[in-house]
Amino acid sequence: MKKIYLHPLPIRIWHWINAISFIVLIITGLQIRYRELMGLMKFREAVDIHNFFGFVLIFNFFIWLVYYIVTGKIKIYIPPLNLKKFVVGGLRQARYYGYGILMGEQNPHHSTPDNKFNPMQQMAYLAIMMLLIPLQLGSGLLLWDAKRFADWINLAGGIKIVDTVHVFLFLFFTAFIFVHVYLATLGHTAMAHIKAMFTGYEELEEEHSH
Ligand code: HEM
Repeated sequence: MKKIYLHPLPIRIWHWINAISFIVLIITGLQIRYRELMGLMKFREAVDIHNFFGFVLIFNFFIWLVYYIVTGKIKIYIPPLNLKKFVVGGLRQARYYGYGILMGEQNPHHSTPDNKFNPMQQMAYLAIMMLLIPLQLGSGLLLWDAKRFADWINLAGGIKIVDTVHVFLFLFFTAFIFVHVYLATLGHTAMAHIKAMFTGYEELEEEHSH
């Protein structure tokens, strides 16, 4: 086994605060929407916890953003200009998850600090970090104080639109977490990638570590 340092400390901190906050926000969001059905806590408590973790997530997002911009490493999120290579790489990766892995094939992508994501990850993470999370945080902020942000809400098309965006993204993120956690268990052991997100070091089997 060879170890490579893949996840720098600020990203590990960001990631786990992000994961915990998302889970708390999903549970309290469900409680807010389906008060009778859930019955986990009082409505007011759910709103207060939801607001608190909403602000944690906004603050946390800036840890991610500042780290990647200041270090210039944001480029690991940007797909290559060569579109054909990107599409072929994406299809190869999807074939691996749907078929190759069941046949004992090796993962076609070998992560390095400068080329950490396979094309599927690159596409998903780019959309999530640069579009969907900002939209989720923005719509949440407007709903947090609809009076104060009345002008912004009107600009976005009214409170129903803002609320629909917020709820649709909730559906997306809830589904994403299941897929993301499943894919995270597909390392050389079920916990290998998850452990790496804590320690920073990913273990690679010697013959495909180059
Ligand atoms: C709830 C449990 C979660 C687990 C066990 C988990 C696990 C992991 C693991 C093992 C990695 C490293 C491998 C990789 O780069 O794909 C990772 C990276 C990542 N995860 Fe998660 N994750 C969780 C929640 C989330 C959530 C809720 C989000 C966003 C909504 C998220 C977004 C990301 C992103 C953007 C990366 C790449 C980070 C970077 O290296 O810049 N994760 N996750």
